[in-house]
Amino acid sequence: MPQRQTRSAEEQRLLEKAKRYLPGGTLGNIRFSDDVAFVVKAGKGSKIYDMSGNEYIDYLLGSGPMILGHAHAAVVAAVRDYLERGSTYFTLNAPALELAEEICQAVPCAEKIRFCSTGSEATFFALRAARTFTKKEKILKFEGGYHGSHDYALMSSSPSVPKDFPRAVPDSAGIPRVLEDVVFIAPFNDLHTTSAIIERHHHELGGVIVEPFQRIITPRPGFLEGLRRVTQRFAIPLIFDEVVTGFRLAWGGAQEYYGVIPDLAAFGKIIGGGYPLSAVVGRADIMETFNPDRETSGDFIAQTGTLNGNPIAAVAGLATLRQLKTEGTYRRLFSTGEALRQGLLDLLKRYGVAGQVLGEDPLFDVVFTDEPVNDYRGVLTQNRELLRRFNAELLKRGILKGSSKIYLSVAHSAADVEQTLTAVQETFEVMTKA
Ligand SMILES: Cc1ncc(COP(=O)(O)O)c(C=O)c1O
Repeated sequence: MPQRQTRSAEEQRLLEKAKRYLPGGTLGNIRFSDDVAFVVKAGKGSKIYDMSGNEYIDYLLGSGPMILGHAHAAVVAAVRDYLERGSTYFTLNAPALELAEEICQAVPCAEKIRFCSTGSEATFFALRAARTFTKKEKILKFEGGYHGSHDYALMSSSPSVPKDFPRAVPDSAGIPRVLEDVVFIAPFNDLHTTSAIIERHHHELGGVIVEPFQRIITPRPGFLEGLRRVTQRFAIPLIFDEVVTGFRLAWGGAQEYYGVIPDLAAFGKIIGGGYPLSAVVGRADIMETFNPDRETSGDFIAQTGTLNGNPIAAVAGLATLRQLKTEGTYRRLFSTGEALRQGLLDLLKRYGVAGQVLGEDPLFDVVFTDEPVNDYRGVLTQNRELLRRFNAELLKRGILKGSSKIYLSVAHSAADVEQTLTAVQETFEVMTKA
């Protein structure tokens, strides 16, 4: 294990500022216990560095966008080259148009695109487009599925006590109660129950939204195909949330990877190359609801955003996509991920730890349960205390990951994998001794 530097006075001062000015001392929901809390100084490739000089192999990757690793030379050069031309215009610009074309050519369902700034906005406006197009107000989402932090999305994403399907449990205070009756909840990977809910409520359902690869749970063979069929049968727009999977599972996203084409999709993270940019894409007839020519028609969506099509984010996104497009890039991403997954699996077995590795090669994690996990309720069977200790012990050993995700980048090397597996081995030694 690399020797940890003691916390510098400067980092200590900044951590105190965090406590003083940020609620909970955090920018969102990621925070670490006081003994291992840190402030990032820089990121480069697969590593980030804290203010005291500690290095971490980074599997958090900014929550997903940094698929090339941090400060990739091509992205830095593209942004630097553009900066002198201004930062944002609120009107047509070449980088946004080039990115629009690149995404529409890559993603099977994407005939048209509307840019926004965050993944939450993209799912929010995709749902609004679907409801406008169908003139029906209710939506269906899946238990455990995460689509950002707006009021329709934060329903049964992480309920500690789930209700009977299709009833929704709000994940946050402050969500109007009336929305609990607007969102139906279905079990991921259970086509039978999902189809029954859709059949019963199709007359009021304006859209179905799904993470095609839900968190780290893969779709069972036939699930997405069946969902496509039943939504098509009732002409209900099917929305894939590709904020995570877009350009990660494949160049054309989860829809290419799993071979099922939705009507609409939400993209974010990778397409902005680490800058704030997201998009709704999809069928031209549904996307027409965004067309301002229809302003007086009654089925026009008011969607505008100060940073829509921001050129700096667009050049960063374009530079990222160009790197991803180069021969062998996805092969490398997948093979590094596969090596780490296999290593984790071997160590779980060697140490007799009850657990499994769920996911696909570019995104996965250990789930500490022997029960089959095909949906959110399966995840609930895991030993959360073990997961918490696993993450904390790894962080002490210079391995940074999300609370339940390991994101791979093309910058991760065989040496990173080896160092990570050594840290995992030490972690299992500690966890199985105690
Ligand atoms: C699948 C999915 N959809 C939507 C979002 C929301 O994106 P953002 O955090 O950019 O609002 C996230 C964020 O992690 C996500 O994982």
